[in-house]
Amino acid sequence: MKIEITKQGYEKLKKRAPWLYQNELKIIPKCDPGTIADLIYKGEYVATAFINPISKITARIVSFEKTNIDKEFFKNRIEKAVKKREKLWNITNSMRLIHSEADFLPGLIVDMYQNNIIVSFTTAGMDNFKGIIIELLIELLNPKGIYEKGDKIRQKEGLEIASQTLYGEVDDEFIILENNKKFYTRLKEGQKTGFFLDQRKNRKIVGEYGNKRTLDLFANAGGFGIYARAEFTKFVEISALACSLIEKNCELNGIENYEIVKSDVFKFLEKEKNTYDLIIIDPPAFAKNKSARKGAIKGWKYLIVNSLKILEEGGYLALFSCSHSITSKDLLDLALSSSIIDNSYLEVIEFMKQDIDHPYLLNIPNSLYLTGVLLRKEK
Ligand SMILES: C[S@@+](CC[C@H](N)C(=O)[O-])C[C@H]1O[C@@H](n2cnc3c(N)ncnc32)[C@H](O)[C@@H]1O
Repeated sequence: MKIEITKQGYEKLKKRAPWLYQNELKIIPKCDPGTIADLIYKGEYVATAFINPISKITARIVSFEKTNIDKEFFKNRIEKAVKKREKLWNITNSMRLIHSEADFLPGLIVDMYQNNIIVSFTTAGMDNFKGIIIELLIELLNPKGIYEKGDKIRQKEGLEIASQTLYGEVDDEFIILENNKKFYTRLKEGQKTGFFLDQRKNRKIVGEYGNKRTLDLFANAGGFGIYARAEFTKFVEISALACSLIEKNCELNGIENYEIVKSDVFKFLEKEKNTYDLIIIDPPAFAKNKSARKGAIKGWKYLIVNSLKILEEGGYLALFSCSHSITSKDLLDLALSSSIIDNSYLEVIEFMKQDIDHPYLLNIPNSLYLTGVLLRKEK
């Protein structure tokens, strides 16, 4: 199948954009979701794409070179993704092996927890190749089991949301080993595909600044607080499941002096009077799109102003945003205006981003989805 694209679409693809919207195709073809097509501009081949007429993102680029999209094609791409992460196995037993467009495989997410694989197919195009992908994962990685997590995003592609075992048996409970730390996780139930693997490197960076009293806000499984190994740690988290994980993880890592507060962080900060020398703020994406940005900025300002009030002089503040609409520049602007209210000064110690198993490709600006800054407070 061949599809003509518009000049605007062509200009985007010249810069290696990973997808085109409906209005960037000359006509919306009547074809099954996930059909493979050649994108054409003025009679010339530009790229090969998965086409989904029912999705706003109508063309997802699979290749910028004319090639057969077959088992060999996927084998090459999977092998490349696996190879470039090889060294990470030296520090962990769990990582993201394939991160969709950022690994040139639009709609395929593969996380590996030792010999357990958790997979998601988020585009109709990739879903059509499920059988081949599973065969390849078995051949190349020899897992004991493969479990599919039905991501909600599948609905946008007209796909059903189903979670199911696709091969062998995946462990319900699993212990992630990461830089000599241990994290208990439930592979089938957890948020995302189990654990926030993308914060691995940042946990290590921020953890080095743990000293006397750490406050881990939006703690999830307690990763930051556990790395910090402070004399006392307070974890604040709203989910009961995550709170039970924090308790298990403290036990696994020999952390004894801690408190878990099951609460909304915003309410917690209203009342908290104790002070800390390291505070981590790692909230979920408040602003999933640009229109929600205003509310997110307000929420962030509240979090930073109130955290600074209980951060000691010489203490450290780590801020993370996992939403494209709140950038690291926004975090710095928010930190500056909050420090003026607090009558303090903030020094930038580190700029951070998602760990390398979640690649950031320059031709896909959105692939930088997690940014962070570590700041030090001066009076
Ligand atoms: C991005 S995750 C934190 C990841 C964690 N820092 C780590 O490295 O594993 C955000 C967490 O905030 C929790 N959460 C969301 N809204 C909350 C709220 N208002 N108050 C407290 N926790 C909240 C979620 O349950 C989730 O575990």
